[in-house]
Amino acid sequence: MKRFFILAVVFSTLAFTISRPTISNFIFTTVNDVPDLPDTPYDYSGITFPDHLLNAQDDTIDLGYEGGGIDSLSFADITDNGATLGRVLFYDKKLSSLETMSCATCHNQAMSFAENKAVSDGLTAPTLRNSMHLNDIAWTNKEHFFWDMSESDLRTMIRLPLTDENEIGADMDDIAQKLGETSYYPQLFTNAFGDPAVTEDRIAEALVQFISSMTTFNSKFDQEAANNFAGFTTQEQLGLDLFAANCNTCHSQGGHNFFDFPIDIPTLEIFPFIFNNGLPEDPEDAGAGTWEPGFSNLFKIPTLRNIDLTAPYMHDGRFESLEEVVNHYSDEVIDNEWTGEFIPSGGFAFTDTEKEAMVAFLETLTDESFLTEPRWSDPFGLETNIENFSIANLIIRPNPMRDVAVIEYDNPNQELVTFHVFSADGKLVLNENTRSDRYTLDKGIFQAGTYFIAVLMDDKKSTAKLMVQ
Ligand code: HEC
Ligand code: HEC
Repeated sequence: MKRFFILAVVFSTLAFTISRPTISNFIFTTVNDVPDLPDTPYDYSGITFPDHLLNAQDDTIDLGYEGGGIDSLSFADITDNGATLGRVLFYDKKLSSLETMSCATCHNQAMSFAENKAVSDGLTAPTLRNSMHLNDIAWTNKEHFFWDMSESDLRTMIRLPLTDENEIGADMDDIAQKLGETSYYPQLFTNAFGDPAVTEDRIAEALVQFISSMTTFNSKFDQEAANNFAGFTTQEQLGLDLFAANCNTCHSQGGHNFFDFPIDIPTLEIFPFIFNNGLPEDPEDAGAGTWEPGFSNLFKIPTLRNIDLTAPYMHDGRFESLEEVVNHYSDEVIDNEWTGEFIPSGGFAFTDTEKEAMVAFLETLTDESFLTEPRWSDPFGLETNIENFSIANLIIRPNPMRDVAVIEYDNPNQELVTFHVFSADGKLVLNENTRSDRYTLDKGIFQAGTYFIAVLMDDKKSTAKLMVQ
């Protein structure tokens, strides 16, 4: 089936308030039927752990990570062609029974592969829990998946969303034939596995390689960790100290030898990664209690890397912001049999200054480059970001937008500049002029999603993609 939507935007039909040279027709192709891939595959396999993670056992530097045990073989199986195939599968709606959903529907690159909803809209019903961010899962916790940690092997786990009738709903018997008939999968499977056969094992393997390649080693935290945090503000440094003292007992992903848990249940080897953080008991969801009664109300401790981008928070998406999360840990903790040793009764009772410092520290864990990195981007979508550079030094930041996004460019002669912002379905949502060298977009008028911005100046034009979370 051909699904090829072209959105032609004819600028000359738009109302121009001043006379200007006619601008040639613009075409935005919003969805491609075939993936747009580089001739040489992107580099997925060349990942190395930064030294400060491998050497974290050095007690003299407290990185907020417990020492030891990072598995430097975490990325050993990744090949560039395998992960390339995984990228296409991850974004391809053809896998889904109704061709309406892909993994990316609920796992969005702009949100570090989480979703900005408390629970996701499944094919037929809302999902039980909050969609999880996928960055760094291959090394922070490579044996425990889902909020209830019911899956211990990523290769097995991946088949669940693939075949779940409320998620991708792929019919594995049909899928081999369906993918085999496309113009691109036979070659992609051959590149990855040596021959064009499409099998469930290969689909799972390729998806695992793609997801495993998602690392965020370029945050301020990482840059500064290599530098003894010399560039941290006083506030960020206070946040780091508070984190190391209060949060790290549970959130020390990456190190695997945490503490001996004083309860004698054989399966408790999983304990370092599962816990209860004093949320009210959830009558709808027993967490790990669904598969082991002794683990009732225990949930996975997700990595906090890129956490500023993945709101809402917790397994049920109950908190909208990091401020709410920190308030919970400070003042709203409900004591229970698990929290006792790790969280003081009622919470840590932070001061306002400490709360702000904690949030400032958590924000240093964001790797912005991850959000626009082409190798993890949608190969069926538009080219990312600035597409043609005829307007000098055009940049939009932050992108994804925060409360505002500022468009900046060179405009030494105060030329008249026009901005057109389109939603992904082609509606003009903004049409503005200025003679300045910057223009501020206010989040107020935007819903979450992808927008296309055309900037027009004299006979020059540039287009750009803007993400709104
Ligand atoms: C309808 C929305 C939806 C779709 C589609 C979807 N997911 Fe998810 N994903 C979720 C939710 C919700 C969770 C948490 C589930 C839970 O804990 O019960 C999750 C969890 C995960 C996890 C576990 C992460 C962790 O840290 O434990 C992985 C990995 C994952 N999904 C990968 C995928 C892949 C690959 C696809 C496509 C084959 C996919 N998902 C499709 C919503 C979705
Ligand atoms: C006793 C162990 C424990 C301690 C201590 C702890 N956490 Fe957590 N944290 C958890 C667990 C378990 C979850 C998941 C809870 C859930 O969803 O039910 C979690 C979830 C989170 C989340 C949301 C993650 C997401 O993906 O939605 C953030 C943010 C967070 N913690 C920050 C902190 C901070 C900051 C501190 C220190 C003030 C802290 N935590 C201390 C166990 C802990």
